[in-house]
Amino acid sequence: MSPISTQRHGDILIVTSNNPPVNTLGHAVREGLVKAIEEADADEAIKAVVIRCDGQTFFAGADISEFGKPMQMPMLPMVVDRIEECTKPVVAAIHGTALGGGLEVALACHYRVAVPSAKLGVPEVKLGLLPGAGGTQRLPRVVGVPKALEMTTSGNPIGAEEAFDLGLVDRLIEGDLAQHAVAYAEEVSDVRPIRKSSELDEKLAEARANPGMFDEFRKANARKMKGFDAPEANIKAVQAAVAKPYQEGVLDERRLFMELMTGTQARAQQYFFFAERKASKIDGLPEDTKPRDIKRVGVIGAGTMGGGISMNFLSAGIPVTIVEMAQDALDRGTGTMRKNYEATAAKGRMTAEEVEGAMGLLKPTLALEDLGDCDLIIEAVFENMEVKKDIFGKLDKIAKPGAILASNTSYLNVDEIAASTSRPQDVVGLHFFSPANIMKLLEVVRGARTAPDVLVTAMQLAKKIRKVAVVAGVCHGFIGNRMLMPRQIEATKLLLEGATPEQIDRVHVEFGMPMGPFQMADLAGVDIGWHRDPSRIENLRDKLAAEGRWGQKKGAGFYDYDEKRRPSPSPVVQTYIDEFAAKEGIQRREISDEEIMERTIYTMVNEGAKILEEGMAQRASDVDVVWVYGYGWPVYRGGPMFWADTVGLATIVEGLKRQQERLGSEFSLSEMLVKKAEAGEKFTR
Ligand code: 3HC
Repeated sequence: MSPISTQRHGDILIVTSNNPPVNTLGHAVREGLVKAIEEADADEAIKAVVIRCDGQTFFAGADISEFGKPMQMPMLPMVVDRIEECTKPVVAAIHGTALGGGLEVALACHYRVAVPSAKLGVPEVKLGLLPGAGGTQRLPRVVGVPKALEMTTSGNPIGAEEAFDLGLVDRLIEGDLAQHAVAYAEEVSDVRPIRKSSELDEKLAEARANPGMFDEFRKANARKMKGFDAPEANIKAVQAAVAKPYQEGVLDERRLFMELMTGTQARAQQYFFFAERKASKIDGLPEDTKPRDIKRVGVIGAGTMGGGISMNFLSAGIPVTIVEMAQDALDRGTGTMRKNYEATAAKGRMTAEEVEGAMGLLKPTLALEDLGDCDLIIEAVFENMEVKKDIFGKLDKIAKPGAILASNTSYLNVDEIAASTSRPQDVVGLHFFSPANIMKLLEVVRGARTAPDVLVTAMQLAKKIRKVAVVAGVCHGFIGNRMLMPRQIEATKLLLEGATPEQIDRVHVEFGMPMGPFQMADLAGVDIGWHRDPSRIENLRDKLAAEGRWGQKKGAGFYDYDEKRRPSPSPVVQTYIDEFAAKEGIQRREISDEEIMERTIYTMVNEGAKILEEGMAQRASDVDVVWVYGYGWPVYRGGPMFWADTVGLATIVEGLKRQQERLGSEFSLSEMLVKKAEAGEKFTR
């Protein structure tokens, strides 16, 4: 049965799509839409058409799973042209999200009405693409060039009210959308000539008067767009809309779309779209597992981590009890949270009432006993096993039955922590990334005895606080930090062998990482994890810590910093490096960028493979989600495992073997990596 049905309401033809879950524009939908428009054209009794969707949303775009397969006719550009050519006015009735191809369908309709909660956007850029069904040509004609540039290059949707102000929506509908859309169609059924988005010119003329705006836009957004192919292609397509007649502009759009579609970046970004959604699924849990009810959350520790974690729940409307050991630390912690909220409000992203609302849900206390009514308790204290065990032992006596006890540990053994309670089934790791109120990743660490409903609760809760959760097994550093370790070890060795912090960081930044290992150390703090004994100097990091070079916060770390925190190479650090190299009898030599790649990035892939081999991650794509959302791995390279597939696993193995001697005895090749390379297989599909 076709997902598209038609129904007559007097002289209006109502065309309805029913293609759950999000009404993507798959083949059957496209075919049905064309047939419906033909039906309207052929029937004299029909005066206007309404296109609407059943279910949670208007068309959310092309069906991404059809990409890369042979396209079945009619293609979307043909469908939207056919809609625009309809001889009767066509009204789009929008609820939920009109995204990508969905918005392109709406733009081809002659009128658009929407409920106030609807969102409209062209997220193709996030898939490494551009709107390929006339969107780059019609959108600027309707909303103007500056807005079209912003929408196409950011991919972020706008709300219906803004769309109404811009002329993208003709009427906002309160009440029954279908009913009002039909009434609207009646109103416009006699209007001639029929307004077509592709024929509008007024807003393009404004842009023609200011041809420099495109380069200004490029300059203003250079940082955000760096490394990505798609934003520039979007700009070029919008530029074509201004410079060329519609019929020529769409040809440019098609050419640019096809160039992107056949590139690696689009493949990586589309892969990542599904990777992110797959991450929330836990294999092997009973289907009927019900989550536990979380009405109040407890957080132990009001430091940077505890405060950030608490803010996630407060922002989602979940009350939090926060515990500290001393009043001044508690006051400082809650004060920082308020300051962070107020800064968000100052940027216009929150109202003053919302700040008060969130802070009003916070209950600060010095008594651990006050956590007795919490459904989930997250410990975010000092990273030390004895301290954690002590806290969990106490929680065991305080927490109500069925409460989930979570540790925010970033390395430690969750099973050992769980063993200090009488209820290991209720214990789980919830590893937030700093700053915890901002970073999207949450590693959910599954202990040997963690109950299925605890895991399901964690995954659901993550969604509620707008995090992307990935399940990890119990191992040192879980997925993300474990893969960081070989990189850190090799980066430090490379310094002694002849590379500089600048060179190593540059290789990582050129690869697309937001920063390299030493820039990261300086930002996070060189003193993190330091034993705090200045007389014990066993490695370069100990030396820097002992000398008070703790990173940006001290104005000195691996780099020197000026008062504006701008880094410059440090001659002092270079002398430390030279001293250590001499002490260890290392002959310094020229290091190539290629060697840095092989020793710091290929080794991460190797560690990722070991994680998979040991079952510490459910799937390769989960590893990729961790690295993109936790460490800023460039999404246009998909993630370390996807990237390794694009490079070729044989090449990775070859590079690692070339470096084997330098990698030393503590390094071993992953068997899974070697086997896959030999068999010509990949980690991801
Ligand atoms: N193609 C294929 N599958 C899609 C899809 C799409 N465009 N959009 C969503 N889905 C699938 C998801 O994979 C998920 O499947 P699963 O249940 O098997 O995991 C299911 O639909 C539900 O999706 P979400 O879990 O994301 O549901 P939410 O309610 O959280 O979000 C949404 C809904 C806002 C519509 C979100 O799914 C979304 O942003 N979708 C992508 C929209 C998009 O990028 N559109 C542009 C497509 S490209 C295009 O149109 C090209 C054209 O210009 C030619």
